[in-house]
Amino acid sequence: MIGFKSKMDVSTPEEIFLEINNRFIGAIMMHGQFADYFDFLGLRGYKNLHEYQHLAESIERRKVCRYYINHHNALIKEDFSGEVNIIPDAWYTAKRLSVGKSTKQKAVEDGFLEYHNWESDTKFVYEKYAQKLRETGSVADAIFVEKLVEDVSAELKTVERMISDLISVGYDMVYITEIQPEIQEKYNKKLKGIEVE
Ligand SMILES: [Fe+2]
Repeated sequence: MIGFKSKMDVSTPEEIFLEINNRFIGAIMMHGQFADYFDFLGLRGYKNLHEYQHLAESIERRKVCRYYINHHNALIKEDFSGEVNIIPDAWYTAKRLSVGKSTKQKAVEDGFLEYHNWESDTKFVYEKYAQKLRETGSVADAIFVEKLVEDVSAELKTVERMISDLISVGYDMVYITEIQPEIQEKYNKKLKGIEVE
């Protein structure tokens, strides 16, 4: 369960970057928890996907902070107040091998739905912020935020393709299990290619 909402009645770069920073904190928490979620389920491809997003978005958040400090000569306030609880409470007292097939199947479906909702909300929110910045003449800031829109849009496309495939096979556990090595390999390569500027 994710309890977090970005404020939409914001207009200054200061307010908008504060909201973006908070959303990044939520996103990084979410991806980290999803990495554990899928690791616990023994789905290593999905685990690697979230491991990668966790790291990539941490680096991206550093860029957001650096951009704001260097282009506005001020700090972004950090006041994240939300709830990010991806892992069901019952899992904390369970052991990996006691998780049955139907629980796993449901967890994949719920997990991808939650992930998709988050990314789709993020795209919507960043698009509105970029638009607001353009309207108020903060063009450089708008260009920076538009780049974030591009990144989230690419991530969303990937999630949607994966969900579409999952729907096609009716969340079949054989398919889900067999697809893991390919996804694991793909994100292993991406993890190795991460560059910290
Ligand atoms: Fe993400």
